Amino acid sequence: MSATALPENLSELVEAARQGAAHAYAPYSQYKVGAAVRGASGRVYTGCNVENASYGATVCAERVAVFKLVSAGETELVEVAVWTAGPEPAMPCGICRQVLAEFGRQALVAVATPGSVRQTTLLELFPEPFVFRP
Ligand code: THU
Repeated sequence: MSATALPENLSELVEAARQGAAHAYAPYSQYKVGAAVRGASGRVYTGCNVENASYGATVCAERVAVFKLVSAGETELVEVAVWTAGPEPAMPCGICRQVLAEFGRQALVAVATPGSVRQTTLLELFPEPFVFRP
């Protein structure tokens, strides 16, 4: 992971993720997360975590963003950003890594808090996703 300054495209995506967090529905954990993914088209899709009284029905911010991308007709994502107010960055959970890998094995990933930003890749975070090859 690198803590150096991000390239402009990723900084822009982090800002989109930060804005996405404004809509987080997190009355149970109070932990608000925003995410943004950039499709191969260049379009950006934001997401936020959406919790539920039945805790297991909660959906993470990353998956909301990916599902928006797919429901808009895209199937490839090239960059991902995740933002939380911190103090530690929210690393994508295991389920989200599997979902992100379905549409962007090579994606760049930025995780950010108000005071930090780190860049990595999905290949580094999740090198061996499940692939359905019956
Ligand atoms: N959460 C995310 O939205 N993304 C992550 O990367 C980690 C966890 C959410 C799910 C839940 O609403 C809250 O954070 C606490 O787990």
